Amino acid sequence: MNRLPPETPMRPHTHGDPAIEIRGLRKIYDGIPVVDGIDLSISGGEFFGLLGPNGAGKTTALRMLLGLTPIDSGSVRVLGLPIEVHGREIRERLGVVPQFDTLDIDFTVEENLLTYASYFGLSGSGLKQRIDDLLDLANLESRRHATIDTLSGGMKRRLTLARALINQPDLVILDEPTTGLDPQARHHLWRQLRRLRERGVTLVLTTHYMEEAQELCDRVAIIDAGRIIACDSPQAMIVAHVEPWVISLNAASARQFIADPATLPARMLEIADTWLIYTRNPAEVRAELESAGLAHTLRAANLEDVFLKLTGHDLRE
Ligand SMILES: Nc1ncnc2c1ncn2[C@@H]1O[C@H](COP(=O)(O)OP(=O)(O)O)[C@@H](O)[C@H]1O
Ligand SMILES: [Mg+2]
Repeated sequence: MNRLPPETPMRPHTHGDPAIEIRGLRKIYDGIPVVDGIDLSISGGEFFGLLGPNGAGKTTALRMLLGLTPIDSGSVRVLGLPIEVHGREIRERLGVVPQFDTLDIDFTVEENLLTYASYFGLSGSGLKQRIDDLLDLANLESRRHATIDTLSGGMKRRLTLARALINQPDLVILDEPTTGLDPQARHHLWRQLRRLRERGVTLVLTTHYMEEAQELCDRVAIIDAGRIIACDSPQAMIVAHVEPWVISLNAASARQFIADPATLPARMLEIADTWLIYTRNPAEVRAELESAGLAHTLRAANLEDVFLKLTGHDLRE
């Protein structure tokens, strides 16, 4: 079950070489820079995450990478080639999972794959085998002849990923592949993505789920208002920017007992109705909260905390 097509190539020669090189990338809409000077190198074989709130410029950046949105300034090289000149050639070696499903609702699951394959000039018995393997990978064997409107959201996303793999891409770009999926469907997709990474495929994903980026990505860039505000491995980013422990509690009840949070032996942020207390020494803070009878929870710091620290606002705003 869920094997990759056997002919899916290992690409050891691309490992380590830059799969994507972006320099000074900018896009301006209505006088507002929505991508505002991005520099980024992504290595072959890397699983890279672009993390940011809605409107941060993620989709615009990806569309410029794909040659679908014209670049205002800066340069983009994908698989070693400049996108402005070689867009078509590059897209033949890419797989794309767009933010919104673009499956053809007039066709069945299998017909969607066949139609997409025809854009790459694929046909014959090799293609038949590949479609069998991709349906197996996507766990959609039993839905081969189903129409698109009978599929769940998770099935549609899996089919879109299967479709993106039809040309055995070196690089797969996924724009919010798991937004709106339930946890089970999300985990299923994660498994498929990890498998691709094991095969040496370069993956670039956007998400606004911190735990997704932390779980999957070798490196992430946090992007806010068109700029990269931090870029590193998730763990390195957490260690570099925030205290390791976070205690959260209801702001209103906290205020009844603690008039001035500056007296706490820790850093405090108030977000919505919650106090987030950041500390290297949770026992000390918890002792104080417990003596005041305040209910609270303790967790390890994550990427959202990094984002909050660096921007002062919530990632999901
Ligand atoms: N074609 C367009 N014309 C005008 N504004 C756009 C266009 N596409 C995106 N924008 C604006 O650019 C900003 C970034 O959008 P987008 O790249 O879709 O962000 P994200 O994918 O991070 O949610 C948003 O403010 C959006 O409204
Ligand atoms: Mg988007």
